[in-house]
Amino acid sequence: MKRFDTRSAPIAAGAIVVMCLGVAACGSNAATKTDLPPMGTTGVEAWLTAGSYKHWSCESAIHMSRAPSPHGFNRICSNTEISSNAIGTGNWPIDAAAVKELYATMDGTTLVGYAVYLKTKADSAAGANWYWYERVPVDSMAAPHDAVGVVADGMGTSGPALSICVGCHNAAGSDGVHTPSAGGRDQVYTPVH
Ligand code: HEC
Repeated sequence: MKRFDTRSAPIAAGAIVVMCLGVAACGSNAATKTDLPPMGTTGVEAWLTAGSYKHWSCESAIHMSRAPSPHGFNRICSNTEISSNAIGTGNWPIDAAAVKELYATMDGTTLVGYAVYLKTKADSAAGANWYWYERVPVDSMAAPHDAVGVVADGMGTSGPALSICVGCHNAAGSDGVHTPSAGGRDQVYTPVH
């Protein structure tokens, strides 16, 4: 027994070291990455369904969209990069992100889509350095979309992300008409805190 114990000890210790290295290697990155929306329909839809954004700062109730929003009944969640700077004046830091849950009705029984964005660089470049995603019901008349309801899925450099999302969000905070909520600026209309 004694010989067996002595022999197996280094093996067990070795196994633990390998395990810890594995966890440390993935762990530190994973903690940040799971909290940020991945880019691309498949990844972002899976991330939305998993619901980690629900731990961000979320509005307490669904509301009709505030002008000039075309988003309908919704509830907004902002991540800490936004919520901790909500009442400020500077541009948002890299990794600023928000999710807007879209509902068919005010009572929130049916979640019908999402709008999401993520700031990918410290400089917004007038919306170009943000990733934009939105999916609406396939029968929605509110915005042009593809066969599965995707309105935009890409950086704000081209396509619907530029013409639709940046086309309006670039005016956030520019004047009273484009400040539906306190602190709205730098592509963000309603910072939740
Ligand atoms: C005509 C203007 C307009 C267009 C077009 C528009 N939005 Fe918005 N969006 C708004 C306004 C205004 C709000 C805040 C609404 C509120 O507080 O109810 C908003 C809110 C949001 C939010 C929640 C965080 C925030 O900034 O308030 C996200 C995310 C979002 N929009 C993403 C998108 C995406 C993605 C697109 C393109 C598919 C898009 N929006 C197109 C005006 C617009």
